[in-house]
Amino acid sequence: MSFTPSTIEALSPNAVTLFRDTWGLLAAGSAEKCNTMTISWGMLGELWGADCVTVYVRPTRYTKEFLDANEQFTISFLPADAANRKIHGVTGAQSGRDVDKIALTGLTPVPAGESVAFAQAQTVLVCRKLAVQAFDPAGFVDDLPRKVYGDEDPHVFYVGKIEQVLVRTSA
Ligand SMILES: Cc1cc2nc3c(=O)[nH]c(=O)nc-3n(C[C@H](O)[C@H](O)[C@H](O)COP(=O)(O)O)c2cc1C
Repeated sequence: MSFTPSTIEALSPNAVTLFRDTWGLLAAGSAEKCNTMTISWGMLGELWGADCVTVYVRPTRYTKEFLDANEQFTISFLPADAANRKIHGVTGAQSGRDVDKIALTGLTPVPAGESVAFAQAQTVLVCRKLAVQAFDPAGFVDDLPRKVYGDEDPHVFYVGKIEQVLVRTSA
């Protein structure tokens, strides 16, 4: 399996559909030692004069430890088919603290930049961490975010500069 460089302008489907409907595998670490989890919350666009992506991670996620320990992270978007939904059934429901999600799913970690992505991906974003911040509930000016969190800790968001967009060129 191999990947070729592409651009955010050529993303297919578009970024909204990729995050909300296709879902991504957020990963950090190396091909030898990494963790990954399903995400559907994400934003893509220009920030600070750079092409950036923002992902939202609950403080309890094991993947957060890998995000915090590494300068880069990746988002791998697998084709949205039934087999990959099964993969997300593991990566989006089980924690790497408890199970080996790579072994359970058959995902194949491959180096991507200084980080790790998955050979099964159709599209990979390789991102360099620019900022990490927790939402401050004092800034919630509408009930929607208050209702989402209740008494729980809000998400930590990671802004990453998109350094590479990779698309799969072989099966
Ligand atoms: C469709 C879907 C979308 C998800 N999106 C997010 C997300 O954006 N942020 C987040 O923190 N957790 C999200 N999750 C939950 C994590 O994927 C899940 O808790 C995972 O088991 C965490 O694994 P970890 O502890 O190994 O990091 C989502 C789960 C699913 C099924």
